[in-house]
Amino acid sequence: MLRGKKIVLGVTGGIAVYKSVDLVSRLRKQGAEVRVVMSEAATKFVTPLTFQEISGNAVAVSMWNEKHEFRVEHIALAEWADLLLVAPATANIIAKAANGIADNLLSTVLLAAPKPMIFCPAMNTNMLLHPATQENLNKLRKFGYIIMEPGSGPLACGTTGAGRLPEPAEIVEFVRYYLATQEGDLRGKNILVTAAGTREPIDPVRFVGNRSSGKMGYAVAQAAAERGAKVTLISGPSAITPPPNVEVINVETTFEMMEAVLQRFTDTDIVIKAAAVADYRCHEIAKQKIKKTGDDALVLVLDKNPDILKRLGELKTKQVLVGFAAETQNLLENAAQKIKKKNLDMIVANDVTLPGAGFNYDTNVVKFIFPDGKITTFEKMSKLAVANTLLDEIKTLI
Ligand code: PMT
Repeated sequence: MLRGKKIVLGVTGGIAVYKSVDLVSRLRKQGAEVRVVMSEAATKFVTPLTFQEISGNAVAVSMWNEKHEFRVEHIALAEWADLLLVAPATANIIAKAANGIADNLLSTVLLAAPKPMIFCPAMNTNMLLHPATQENLNKLRKFGYIIMEPGSGPLACGTTGAGRLPEPAEIVEFVRYYLATQEGDLRGKNILVTAAGTREPIDPVRFVGNRSSGKMGYAVAQAAAERGAKVTLISGPSAITPPPNVEVINVETTFEMMEAVLQRFTDTDIVIKAAAVADYRCHEIAKQKIKKTGDDALVLVLDKNPDILKRLGELKTKQVLVGFAAETQNLLENAAQKIKKKNLDMIVANDVTLPGAGFNYDTNVVKFIFPDGKITTFEKMSKLAVANTLLDEIKTLI
């Protein structure tokens, strides 16, 4: 998303300016071209020369320099940019941008640019929470500008609270996601992904579960978000860090997953159910940890869980429904039966007896199966590649 993008980075005077140097470097590594405009105050923290060397472009600071790179610099910079990013954005530049004040080069560029703008506020907590700053931030939102919420933690002024500039990697991710929501091929789509296995408690410390790590579902969520979709990931317990820019809902049991899925189904365009859902739950959950007795066997009575995907198949109106099937035998027959029984638009069948396929691997070996009997077979791929190939296919079904 950043390849070839022209970004004007406005840098204003706060201690977090040092992070902007790394930000420029990261943006460039992702293929963006960056021109830095600094406020006078910012130059007290880091010299323009540093930004010039990192960005590979001259740095603009003042309206009144004899040596301008462009003839009417504020207009030329505003026209050149695809996107304007202000990081760190002080209370001062936020106030200027919100009120149309153009009294230095950066504030003038901002006023002259009818382009997408992202502000990353960074300041002392009291300054951030002051009604004037909050009102100014709301004005910027009303103008259609994007505000990246500051982080919380120890601040340079010695206090702890909201107002930290997010880490450069997080800002780059935020910008990438913003661009994906504007230009990605799945922009505007609400996609619901389920991942990992559900667990059914036996007693307070034990459960019935399966080997799903969540890797397949998390890869689908990541790929969909990177392509601009609004993604909700409903996940059973998993050790994986969720991908950025995805709303995560953690659940444990099949009933919890069903409730979370059904609540969001109406507004969803595409459902991808990569979760390995527990088909049975304990008839009774022991209130206390079950102790060993003299008997050789412990008998657990299991009740059948509802089939979430089958329920969605009954409810579906406009939604594209995609299931997964992990099989150890009769892959094609079993998967084809599931398409019919659950009223699916397609199913991703993985033969989990193959090396590198299914549970907990970083790769998978899949076949896409369709209601008309069409089957597409793929070689072993990373789970992220499976996810992107699947999303390509789903696009043709929308
Ligand atoms: O998480 P990983 O370690 O990366 O492993 C990935 C995976 C192997 C778990 C994944 O690729 C996969 O195949 N998931 C589906 C597992 C499965 O066998 O599902 P199933 O055959 O029990 O169910 C078929 C479909 O119905 C699935 O989409 C499932 O989410 C859904 N289902 C099943 C039972 C149930 N009660 N409700 C459901 O919604």
